[in-house]
Amino acid sequence: MKYNLAVIEGDGIGPEIVRSAIRVLEQVAPGKFNYQPVIAGGRSIDLHGVPLTDEALATCKNSDSVLLGAVGGPKWDTLPGHLRPERALLGIRKELGLFANIRPARLYPVLKDACPLRRETAEKGFDMVIVRELTGGIYYGERGRKQDSEGNTIAFDTETYNQTEIDRIAKVAFELAGKRRKKVCSVDKANVLESSRLWRERVHAVAKDYPDIQLSDMLVDNAAMQLVKNPAQFDVIVTANMFGDILSDEASQLTGSIGLLPSASLSSGRCGMYEPIHGSAPDIAGKGIANPIATIVSVAMMLRYAFAMEAEAARIEQAIDKTLQRGCRTVDILDNDTQPLGTIAITDAIIAALA
Ligand code: IPM
Ligand code: MG
Repeated sequence: MKYNLAVIEGDGIGPEIVRSAIRVLEQVAPGKFNYQPVIAGGRSIDLHGVPLTDEALATCKNSDSVLLGAVGGPKWDTLPGHLRPERALLGIRKELGLFANIRPARLYPVLKDACPLRRETAEKGFDMVIVRELTGGIYYGERGRKQDSEGNTIAFDTETYNQTEIDRIAKVAFELAGKRRKKVCSVDKANVLESSRLWRERVHAVAKDYPDIQLSDMLVDNAAMQLVKNPAQFDVIVTANMFGDILSDEASQLTGSIGLLPSASLSSGRCGMYEPIHGSAPDIAGKGIANPIATIVSVAMMLRYAFAMEAEAARIEQAIDKTLQRGCRTVDILDNDTQPLGTIAITDAIIAALA
């Protein structure tokens, strides 16, 4: 049986890194996938006038999983909000019900020198997963503009969460922690926001079903600080959409480069979306120097979560470890005096390490 994979190469470095990831996928699971190209984001705006067509969305919905590179770029930055490339991403997340965004951030021991933290902090290493709520909160709340009586322009975005949305993401975090070090840190801003107070209440209510998990709460400003002070304290972090967006970029840089971190966006059903957490990096697009590792590890996550192909997923991860241990580096993680490898060359090295 073959699985159907919807493939959105996207914009900027998207096509380069997705092609690398598919080469690796074909090595570990040859002939197991049908690839269905989907045009979305900036390319879709250029071709169809909208970031996501109904047809593109339907292909994603009818697939077994979606693999995405990245969307966006300066060319489309001046378009109104509903026509920006990012809308494609937000639309797919919502329409596919991908409410749980899993963003692991671990420090590869061999890349300790690329970690920007103090040496003694980097030496301790870290291995955390940020579980980000992905289809609610301020990203999807009511927004708009109006004028007050004096003609002063007002813009607003609304952070809204209901109990069901919080409960289901909390469950994902507790389940995941059960397979790891059994610690969940719930991050909110409950000293100010009502939506955060409900968040905290519900996370504690759900926690009652998981007596073996140790739950703590942390305010988001403190969490931003603790991440750079002592990242080793975190196992699973669960948080709202925008806090998770911000904290996951911060966590990624602690690993040395945002070019290393994968993500999985999961629904309660079968189909998920797998993508690197970084953007389309228009400044280096087409130069052949982008780091494909985040996308390749995203493929490993897909094999593990969507298709229960644990052995193949582990093979990819081990090949990446091996490649880094051999000293192969792309330019974003260059910490030795070797020549940096380009996208294709590091992919070749990873494929060689699979053997
Ligand atoms: C991410 C990105 C997106 C987000 C953008 C591109 C809309 O930053 O996946 O983290 O904010 O969710
Ligand atoms: Mg982000």
